[in-house]
Amino acid sequence: MRLHYYLTLLLILLELSTIYGLATPPETFLAFGHYQSTCPDAEGIISQKVAAWVKKDPTLAPAIIRLHFHDCAIRGCDGSILLNHTGSERRASESRTLRGFQLIDDIKGELERRCPRTVSCADILTAAARDATLLAGGPFWEVPFGRKDGKISLAREANLVPQGHENITALISFFQERGLDMLDLVTLSGSHTIGRSTCSSFMDRICNFNGTGKPDPSLNVYFLKLLRKRCQRVLDLVHLDVITPRTFDTTYYTNLMKKVGLLSTDQLLFSDPRTAPFVEALATQPFLFTSQFSVSMVKLGNVQVLTRPNEGEIRVNCNYVNTI
Ligand code: HEM
Ligand SMILES: *[C@@H]1O[C@H](CO)[C@@H](O)[C@H](O)[C@H]1NC(C)=O
Ligand SMILES: *[C@@H]1O[C@H](CO)[C@@H](O)[C@H](O)[C@H]1NC(C)=O
Ligand SMILES: *[C@@H]1O[C@H](CO)[C@@H](O)[C@H](O)[C@H]1NC(C)=O
Repeated sequence: MRLHYYLTLLLILLELSTIYGLATPPETFLAFGHYQSTCPDAEGIISQKVAAWVKKDPTLAPAIIRLHFHDCAIRGCDGSILLNHTGSERRASESRTLRGFQLIDDIKGELERRCPRTVSCADILTAAARDATLLAGGPFWEVPFGRKDGKISLAREANLVPQGHENITALISFFQERGLDMLDLVTLSGSHTIGRSTCSSFMDRICNFNGTGKPDPSLNVYFLKLLRKRCQRVLDLVHLDVITPRTFDTTYYTNLMKKVGLLSTDQLLFSDPRTAPFVEALATQPFLFTSQFSVSMVKLGNVQVLTRPNEGEIRVNCNYVNTI
């Protein structure tokens, strides 16, 4: 009798902890069919919009992938990078080269017409980053949905996202704190196989590295000359992958092996013994790169997601927290 009582109590507690997700990590509440009944065309609408915008401006593909990373890097993938109020992360100087906000707003506008208050901005950004990757020639993967939008965005947190000057230990721990390991770090950095950087992000490497008054010794001398020519102003743009800037391939990694990585943080992945083996493996196995990229992007998209009933909201406008 007494045993039966305790067993019942235990079962109730287990049930409660499942319902409230106490023991369950938040990403387990994401599901591939999340919008199946509430907005079945959501993914189709998103991919059509991304395709139309990227067709007009191919530079938006890398921009959206980067925007998704910056969203997930701070307070998880909760669409908070999209919040456009005074003092928000988006308004911080570190975020000034982020782009693609209008594309997300256009998608959101269409989704609000088709299925009001249903699809979160965080989910839109996650799916758009996947679609942008595919359009750039990268792999496809299934995105689980059900992220909710956060309500907090702080300009002072924008500098927590790696800026390209960090040491490898800092990069590894930044990723680790978000449940991403060294393979994820090296694989996701492979996004730099497309897209561009402003000269300001690596200027120190070409003139005064580490306060030495000399260029970065881990920079190929011909590449150094090229960069000096390309960087007349700090906001000039240079391709992150100098050899095949518009192709989603493993050249990013072979570049590192030839000392033609653009950012100091790119080049460090090959010079540090902890991450170099991953660079070598990805450089020589294109299929490993594309398959691991899919796996690592799903992991990135699941970082600190808001999925519980009492967390977050479905924003009506991605720029603002709901007022009602
Ligand atoms: C490992 C740490 C990382 C560092 C230090 C870093 C740093 C940077 C920097 C400095 C830029 C150029 C910004 C500018 O000056 O305009 C950039 C661009 C970019 N990053 Fe990263 N990044 C990192 C990881 C990632 C990850 C994980 C992704 C995606 C999953 C990503 C995707 C991109 C893309 C696609 C661009 C090009 C953006 C464009 O062309 O508009 N990065 N990154
Ligand atoms: C973001 O805020 C700025 C400043 O208030 C404004 O000019 C801009 O139009 C806003 N963007 C959107 C998409 O609402
Ligand atoms: C790496 O960067 C971190 C954070 O900026 C710093 O605390 C640490 O001392 C650095 N480590 C090395 C080996 O330079
Ligand atoms: C930068 O300078 C510090 C201190 O002088 C030194 O320990 C470090 O190895 C230097 N980093 C590089 C990449 O040269």
